[in-house]
Order: sequence, then C-alpha cells, then structure tokens
Amino acid sequence: MINYGLEGKVALVTGGGGGIGRATALVFAYSGAAVLVSDVDAAAGAQTVAQIEAAGGKASFFKCDVSKSDEVRAMVAAAVDTYGGLDCAFNNAGINRLGDDEYDDAIWDRNMGINLSGVMRCMREEAEVMLPRGGGAIVNTASINGLVGNPGQPAYVAAKHGVVGLARHGALRWAQSGIRVNAVCPGVIETPMTAPLSADPKMKALIDGMTPMGRMGTADEIAQAVVWLCSPAASFVTGHALVVDGGNTAL
Ligand SMILES: NC(=O)c1ccc[n+]([C@@H]2O[C@H](COP(=O)([O-])OP(=O)(O)OC[C@H]3O[C@@H](n4cnc5c(N)ncnc54)[C@H](O)[C@@H]3O)[C@@H](O)[C@H]2O)c1
Repeated sequence: MINYGLEGKVALVTGGGGGIGRATALVFAYSGAAVLVSDVDAAAGAQTVAQIEAAGGKASFFKCDVSKSDEVRAMVAAAVDTYGGLDCAFNNAGINRLGDDEYDDAIWDRNMGINLSGVMRCMREEAEVMLPRGGGAIVNTASINGLVGNPGQPAYVAAKHGVVGLARHGALRWAQSGIRVNAVCPGVIETPMTAPLSADPKMKALIDGMTPMGRMGTADEIAQAVVWLCSPAASFVTGHALVVDGGNTAL
C-alpha cells in the first residue's frame, strides 16, 4: 500500500461500509488519517472500522443516510467532535439498479435523493466546517456514467453528471478559500454493487470484453486515485473529473 502523507489529518468517507468506500477508508487510515466511516448499513461500517483497527489505524463509525439533511449535518459534526476537525471528505455513498424503469417517479426520486442530492448535502456541511479552518479536500464519486450516456439508466446517468457538475461548481466557489473539490469517475469495478454482474459468466465476459484493459477494476484502484486527490501531492488539482476505467471512455 502507498502512504499519501495524511498524518494528523481527519477524513470522512460516506458509503464506507461498501466496496469503494471501504477500500478508500483503508488507504486513508494507512496514510495516517483518522477516519470517520459512515454508512446507512451499521454492520458493514463496523466491519470497515474493525479492518482499519486490525491494521493499526484509527477509525470510528457514524450511521448516516445521505438522503437526510439532519443526519448528514450530524455526521459532519461527529467528525469534528471525535477528531477535532475535517480535512478530507469522500462523498461516495450511492445506489444503482433500483429497478428497470428509471423513468418511474419513485425510482427517479430515490436515485436523485441519494446519488445527487446526497452529495450536495455532504458538500454543504463539509465546506461549512472546512472554510473557517482554511481549507480541505473533497472528492465526490461520480462514474463514467457522469461523462458519457447509457441508454438504460436515465436517473443514474443524470445524477452522476450532476455529481461531476457539483465538483466543478465547488472547485470554483472555494478556489480562493483553500478547498479543492474533485470527482472520481470509476469504470466497472468489482464491488458488492456489481457482484450480480460478475456472478453471471456471460455478463462478466461482456464487461471484460468491452473494457480495453480486458478486466473489471478493483476497489483499491479507485481508492488510490481518491486519496491521491486528497493528498498534498494534488495541491493544484481542483475541478477535475478523474477517470479510472481501464480505458472504457477512451474508446
Ligand atoms: N462498482 C462500480 O462499478 C461503480 C462504478 C462507478 C461508480 N460507482 C459508484 O461508486 C460508489 C460506491 O459504490 P460501490 O461499488 O462501492 O457500491 P457498494 O454497494 O459496494 O457500496 C455502496 C455503499 O453505500 C451505502 N449506501 C447506500 N445508500 C446509502 C445512503 N442513502 N446513505 C449512506 N450510505 C448509503 C451502502 O450501504 C454501501 O455500503 C457509488 O456512488 C457508485 O455509484 C461504482
């Protein structure tokens, strides 16, 4: 593992009980940050904390549904109360494939409430804490579906394009205040979210075949990009949508 030099820093990860969030929480902790792991799934989040502690890192869990403003406010306050501040925030919680028809009102609204508005709520609260401290680094999880279309998933595509837009907005709004805001755009990554796809040999072969590098990515490959974006090594990088997709969008 690579240490990105975050000794003494405080990091917050939403969706930290799952594939990309858990992998990123582990890299933050390995890099020296104290990590507030947050998720709507308390058991999964507690497992992430246990893995970090077993590896000698510092972490705790806070349950939060990012579709609820009061819970997001309480989550950010918990990072400050527990560790004394907030330096890095990874707004990653997300859902996919709630149903086949994303033009259905309920499915559309749920997608937007978590995948897009959830990110906005987090950014709003994080910036409030970071501004008086002189800055910080925020990364939002978008997707390659935030950069290109997908005929089957209008809500997911629209939400993820919005997540990239929020990162560009935040970068400009806080450029003079020391807060950098970026997005990460994963291709198809092996996580619990995509487990049904990997479990289907035909689907797996299709995905591998359409990816120039010939395979799905790992959660750790996204984590490396995220923690680098939050690190001092990326001090002049803001408003960027970093694609990590094995070449998919280069086609
Ligand atoms: N896996 C992929 O191929 C892929 C590709 C592009 C983008 N993404 C994005 O990456 C992010 C992480 O996905 P993953 O693949 O690790 O999925 P995952 O399902 O393994 O993890 C997502 C985590 O988010 C949590 N979560 C769901 N709804 C929540 C809510 N309302 N509030 C708080 N937490 C909530 C889940 O409990 C879970 O632990 C998502 O935003 C997803 O859209 C994933």
